[in-house]
Amino acid sequence: MNHHTQVGIIGAGPSGLLLAQLLHTQGINSVVLENRPRQRVESRQRAGLLEQNTVDRLRQAGATDRLDREGLVHDGVILSYNGHRHRIDLAHLTGGSRVTIYAQTEVVKDLIQLRLHEDEQSILFEAEATAIDGLDGYAPAIHYTHQGENHTLICDFVAGCDGFHGIARQAIPAHLTTTYDKVYPYCWLGILAKVPPSTDELIYAYHDRGFALHSMRSPEISRLYVQCDVTDTLDDWPDERIWAELQLRLGTAGWTLAEGPILEKTITPMRSFVSEPMQFGRLFLAGDSAHIVPPTGAKGLNMAVADTGYLFDALMRWYQAGSSLELDAYTAGCMRRVWRVQEFSNFMTDMLHRDSTKSSFDAHLQASRFNQLVNSEAASTVIAENYVGLAASWATGVTGSEHGQSTTFHA
Ligand code: APR
Ligand code: PHB
Repeated sequence: MNHHTQVGIIGAGPSGLLLAQLLHTQGINSVVLENRPRQRVESRQRAGLLEQNTVDRLRQAGATDRLDREGLVHDGVILSYNGHRHRIDLAHLTGGSRVTIYAQTEVVKDLIQLRLHEDEQSILFEAEATAIDGLDGYAPAIHYTHQGENHTLICDFVAGCDGFHGIARQAIPAHLTTTYDKVYPYCWLGILAKVPPSTDELIYAYHDRGFALHSMRSPEISRLYVQCDVTDTLDDWPDERIWAELQLRLGTAGWTLAEGPILEKTITPMRSFVSEPMQFGRLFLAGDSAHIVPPTGAKGLNMAVADTGYLFDALMRWYQAGSSLELDAYTAGCMRRVWRVQEFSNFMTDMLHRDSTKSSFDAHLQASRFNQLVNSEAASTVIAENYVGLAASWATGVTGSEHGQSTTFHA
């Protein structure tokens, strides 16, 4: 079967779902093709920290009813070095910005419910995109299989929101593509535990035994992570070992970590990746299909939402004003922010993890970064500004330079 929509979207992760819902608010129709079943998409555990920019975009999409009720707003975050804690007062250092703790899985559930409530044909689950063609013309096509049959979705634009393993990035000719990649020599083992959080604010801990993070999902459920080796499997980490390491790595005088039943355990590899360009003809990549970050700082979802917001604004300029200026500037408009977030995620990762491949010189530099944080409000401010999310000027390619000049440096 051949059918038509204005924007064909591959992938029902946060990027694809948010784009579909934003377009819907402006009367632009779309179809989301998702190769997994709905239940699978709604149960994948990911990070859970939303920047204000992200909350604002979700609000624009009308997707914040539950977030406003259940999201936990945090004014600060704690960094710990071998048990010595340093609080970064996000609100004070950034002139009032905060972060909201609300799981990506819940964002995805909210967007799916909203979209299907308005149009139950707008997301096709178990629909696998297999090829994209016609990208250099006016009517690109996505070929996909659904319920054992082949179909073609003809559209004005294709949004490649299909994550790191999707097909959209591969549709850009290899000779036009440059990729940048870094794999870290450690992983995160993450748990969901049925125990009230032992902290009001997130704790990121460097310890000589390795990194640990205390996050949360709700007043009843804690989310915790410990650094583990790349060769480790879940069998290497019985519950008792996980709690023992968390107690040691997060511990500080006069504080104990409450333990509870572990509901879920996963191991996540750590990687930084960027692929350029993010556009080819009428194909636009957003989110993990174009770039991934290590999870320290929880920027993956926030970057995906920032790309999607930019793409939505650019598409609306095209549909409402006939201008392709923003669409043509899509890669450049995203990249300055993407690299800033890459640098921040890499900085947080490097500062907080134990890396046995590091020289003792580099290990001293790592410790010195903490000393600077504790002693310099300026150093804490840089972390706070990046952590709560970049100012809007980073999303448009325009800088806040005093003289009104754009200053973008390229490698
Ligand atoms: N056809 C249809 N759907 C596909 C295909 C395909 N060929 N390939 C992949 N998909 C789907 C995946 O099943 C997944 O649901 O695309 C979706 C991509 O979603 P995400 O991986 O969540 O990517 P994105 O929406 O960009 O969100 C980025 O999610 O992975 C986290 O840490 C990441 O927080 C970040 C966020
Ligand atoms: C999470 O809650 O899963 C989380 C929070 C902050 C991070 C990473 C993950 O930096």
